[in-house]
Amino acid sequence: MSGASQPDVRRYLVQPGGSIGGELRVPGDKSISHRALMLGGIAEGRTEIRGFLASEDCLATLRALQALGVRIDRPEEHRVIVEGVGLDGLQAPAAPLDMGNAGTAMRLFMGLLAPQRFDSILVGDASLMRRPMERVAGPLRMMGADIETHEGRPPVRIRGGRTLRAIDFQLPVASAQVKSAILLATLWADGRTKLTEPAPTRDHTERMLRAFGVELLRDGLQVALQGGQTLRGTEVDVPADFSSAAFFIVAGCLAAERGLVIRDVGINPTRTGLLDMLREMGADIRVHPHAGSSAGADLEPVADIEVRASRLRGIQVPESLVPLAIDEFPIFFIAAACAEGETLVRGALELRVKESDRLAVMAEGLGRLGVKHQLLEDGLWIRGGEGFGGGTIDSHGDHRIAMSFAVASLRARAPIEILDVANVATSFPGFLETARQAGLGIELL
Ligand code: S3P
Repeated sequence: MSGASQPDVRRYLVQPGGSIGGELRVPGDKSISHRALMLGGIAEGRTEIRGFLASEDCLATLRALQALGVRIDRPEEHRVIVEGVGLDGLQAPAAPLDMGNAGTAMRLFMGLLAPQRFDSILVGDASLMRRPMERVAGPLRMMGADIETHEGRPPVRIRGGRTLRAIDFQLPVASAQVKSAILLATLWADGRTKLTEPAPTRDHTERMLRAFGVELLRDGLQVALQGGQTLRGTEVDVPADFSSAAFFIVAGCLAAERGLVIRDVGINPTRTGLLDMLREMGADIRVHPHAGSSAGADLEPVADIEVRASRLRGIQVPESLVPLAIDEFPIFFIAAACAEGETLVRGALELRVKESDRLAVMAEGLGRLGVKHQLLEDGLWIRGGEGFGGGTIDSHGDHRIAMSFAVASLRARAPIEILDVANVATSFPGFLETARQAGLGIELL
């Protein structure tokens, strides 16, 4: 039932040391690209997406929408035209929809498909088939959906033909994916959904719904949405992905003696917790916002980020920053291993249910490279400042783990080999070339 997942033999070999510098641009934002496709698909009229991330994850969303009867053209690699079919226009898929490695795609599609007239089944690769889906299925059932998981995990089976009703719901976990799935389902529901988050999470869905003409009220940690609103096709400019820029922000902190500039990066404040953490460690990071990009709550703010090598000190990470840096912990742990003294992260249990168990897999990799650390139930303690030895790291097929250990090589004493790296293409096609351009001695074996 799961999408084919072949044992992967591709690996990186990264030479120790070196310096980082110059100017670069990373690919488009993954979260925003998924959402632009989905909202474009259910809008009235045409949507043009520029700066689209043509990665495996987003292509899974694109193909699933095509299987649901949405016409999508890609005249250029990063330009996509979606011919929206409106709220009533999706068609029954002929086969299970394969989300590949993409948790965001699966969870958001659960919200989008639960209110449809037809049945659907969602599957994914070996990593996605292990990830928890009840966090979305539960609230959707409260709305009236008929939805089944296999012991809490995919495959997800959705029976169509149900009329959904809005809910008043307190999210038990700080998860933008859960919030977004419920908001999407509400578009077809009777009444007004009110969600309360335990802590702020990325708000790309809310911003983009507004850009498609939907009214939505935000009051602190609460968001309210009236069902039955029509979306109007629009133009979406996708900024470069902060989570991809993060690898080079940290690389710059470690080894950009003359500075490194990363262009056109999305700096939505619900995504940039890493900047606060690194600055607290003593990093020299300057953010140059683009004029006009932060005007209006439906626009995604954009900036050039300039970073220079500096001495980092260990910190205690405030738990409130965890959801705002949720995808950046693998690379943050590399920064912590290079910082003088101790760094402590707690309240990060969610890291255990990402593409891999990111606490355990990072602890294993840091151990291999001789970094003193302690794995905690909900976090990690690291004593940094002694650099890395060389060795072989198993990324466990997790794209962000693979890229993080590539950056670690800047402070290593011997080459680092990183196994199972094909999934880097799920979020950052072209990573190898960009990393080389920046100054990393990396090759694909
Ligand atoms: C995402 C939300 C986050 C993040 C994921 C993308 C999104 O997951 O880790 O990579 O696009 O909504 P959670 O909301 O489950 O924490």
